[in-house]
Amino acid sequence: MNRAMIIGTGSALPTRVLDNAELERMVETTDEWITSRTGIKTRRIAGAGEETSKLATAAARRALVMAGITPIELDLILVGTITPDMTMPSCACLVQKELKATRAFAFDLNAACSGFLYALDVADKYIRSDPKLKIMVIGAETLSTRVDWQDRNTCVLFGDGAGACVVTGNHQRHGSDPGEGLGDDAGKDKAEDDQKKETRPGADEDERGYLGAKLYADGNLWELLHLEGAPGRNPDLSRADHNSEPSIKMYGPEVFRHAVRAMADAVDKVLIEQGVSVKQLCLIIPHQANIRIIHSLGEHLALPLEKVYVNVDKYGNTSAATIPIALDEANRQGRLAAGDLLLLCSFGGGFTWGASLIRW
Ligand code: COA
Repeated sequence: MNRAMIIGTGSALPTRVLDNAELERMVETTDEWITSRTGIKTRRIAGAGEETSKLATAAARRALVMAGITPIELDLILVGTITPDMTMPSCACLVQKELKATRAFAFDLNAACSGFLYALDVADKYIRSDPKLKIMVIGAETLSTRVDWQDRNTCVLFGDGAGACVVTGNHQRHGSDPGEGLGDDAGKDKAEDDQKKETRPGADEDERGYLGAKLYADGNLWELLHLEGAPGRNPDLSRADHNSEPSIKMYGPEVFRHAVRAMADAVDKVLIEQGVSVKQLCLIIPHQANIRIIHSLGEHLALPLEKVYVNVDKYGNTSAATIPIALDEANRQGRLAAGDLLLLCSFGGGFTWGASLIRW
C-alpha cells in the first residue's frame, strides 16, 4: 500500500536561551512556580536573522541531508505556522526561496499547535495519489513575537523553534548522497547521521509509513486561546510599545482541561481505527505544552514514562514546532527503529487537535 514515509528529520533553534531566573526579573513569577506548574525550565527566543522562515529553512536543510536528497528534488513545501514572517508571502514560499527548491510549490497551513500534524496528513494525501512526490513538512514558530511579556499567565509558557521532515512514498528508493545547495556543513551532518543510524532489522517496506490520523477542530471554543491581528517580525523586548500589538490570550485552566480530554480521545480513536494496542506503541510524542498535560495523557494510556518523549523543559511550547523538533531529537538519539510504532498527538488554538500513527 502507498503511504507517506518520513525519510529525514531536522530541527533548528534560536541561540538565545531565556531561563526562569531571567523571567523572575521580568514578571512576578518564580522558577518554583513555573517548574512545578509547567515543567518548563528554559525556552529559546529568536533574534535578528532567526525569523520563522530562517529557522524553518535551517531545519529543512538538516532534514534534506538526512534524507539524502537535494532541494531541487522537492515537489512541495508545507509549513504549519501561526507566526509567519509576514502575511504574504507565506513562510513556505520564503523557505522555497532560501532552499532554491525551484520545482516545489509551497503553502502555509494554520492549525495552531496542531499545524504539523495537519500538514503531515495533507502530505500523506498527496503521496497516496502520487507516491514519487517528495514533500518537506515543517512546523516553525517565533511565538516570542506575539507574547505579552508583561502577562505572567502566558509569557512563561512559549518559545521559538522549527522542526522539519522529508516524506515520500514508502516504496520509493531513497538515501542517495546529498548534492548541491545544502550549505557547507552538509557533509558533516550526513556523516553524523549515518553514524547514528540504527541497523536493527526493519519491518516490511509495505507496512511502514503513515498509517492514519484522527484530526479534529472546534471553532466554538476559539476565545479560550487566540491571537488577533497580523503576524509580526522578530521581538524587540526593549521596545516600550511592544504591548500595543495583539498578543496571545489564553484561559489556561480551561485549555488544560480540554487538552487532556481531547488528546486522550483522539489517541483512543486512532488506535482503535488502526487496530493497535497501547502496549504495541514504542514511542509517543505529544505536543509539548505542559508536563502535567503530558503526564495526564501518559496516565490515561497507562504508558510507562520512558515511552513518552519530553523536551518541554528545554524549549517550552513552540506550538506547531514542538512535535517535529521532538521527532528529530528522538530520531537522532536512535530512539526509533524500522518498524516501530510511533504515536503523535497535539492540541492547540482553534481548538484543533488530533493523533496520528506511524510505523517507522
Ligand atoms: N507565576 C506565578 N503565578 C502565576 C503565574 C506565573 N507565571 N501564572 C499564573 N499564576 C497565578 C495565577 O494568577 C493564579 O493566581 P490566583 O490564584 O491568585 O488567581 C495562580 O497562579 C493559579 O493559576 P492557575 O491558572 O489556576 O494555574 P494552573 O495550575 O492552571 O496553571 C497554566 C496555569 C497556564 C500553566 C495551566 O493552566 C496550563 O498549562 N494550561 C494549558 C496551557 C496550554 O497548554 N496552552 C497551550 C495549548 S496548545
